[in-house]
Amino acid sequence: MRQPLSAGNWKMHGSQSSVKTLLAGIRAGLAEVRVAEVAVCPPFPYLGMVQRELSGTSVAWGAQNLSTETMGAFTGEVAASMLLDFGCKYVIVGHSERRTLYGEDDVVVARKFAVARAAGLIPILCIGETLEERERGITRDVVARQVDAIISLEGAVALADAVIAYEPVWAIGTGVTATPEQAQEVHAYIRKRVAEHDVDVADNLRILYGGSMKPDNAAELLAKRDIDGGLIGGASLKAEDFLAICRAANA
Ligand code: PGA
Repeated sequence: MRQPLSAGNWKMHGSQSSVKTLLAGIRAGLAEVRVAEVAVCPPFPYLGMVQRELSGTSVAWGAQNLSTETMGAFTGEVAASMLLDFGCKYVIVGHSERRTLYGEDDVVVARKFAVARAAGLIPILCIGETLEERERGITRDVVARQVDAIISLEGAVALADAVIAYEPVWAIGTGVTATPEQAQEVHAYIRKRVAEHDVDVADNLRILYGGSMKPDNAAELLAKRDIDGGLIGGASLKAEDFLAICRAANA
């Protein structure tokens, strides 16, 4: 049985005061979140505050990125060990914004994934096609390539301690959500691809949907058999909306 995960990806949003308010709002509504595991991924500078405010609650937290290196002269980078030092459980790797805006290719993403796991963090591997790729009919090829990059470096067993987030790039921050059927089709394909290597790993693998997930579309997405939660951007910045999505897994 896969426990759904609702993970908030705050991206580059927040201030000390807005983070405090958001965390207080999330804490206040946790009792009604009965099924989903809840996690938040703030920008690096707020990890300490998140750790202070969420320790002892059921909410986990993580970072949005990490270095491919473990320590040393890498100005501006943040190591996996530092994330652990701030109590992170998760780290997002390969978000499409990192891939497109910061040139992270499958090789870099696979290395970050490996470094995260080696440190004991759970990577949330983001994969997904652009609109152009969908229109060309190569969605499956794209997600297969992105998953295979991990499997070929580390074997399918690496996905046993990981989460995948299927995020069609055309749905991220656009207000256009994949239909539950479109999402389910790709989620099932991803699971099948992993199952070709390891059926148990595939059965237990949590595959989240991301891309304009909102309180009013979360329940129907989460009702699909292969959708095991959400990676939520914009809607995770408002406690009420985020909690409503977390509660959608109760049904
Ligand atoms: P969105 O972002 O919910 O704002 O579309 C999701 C994501 O990029 O993880």
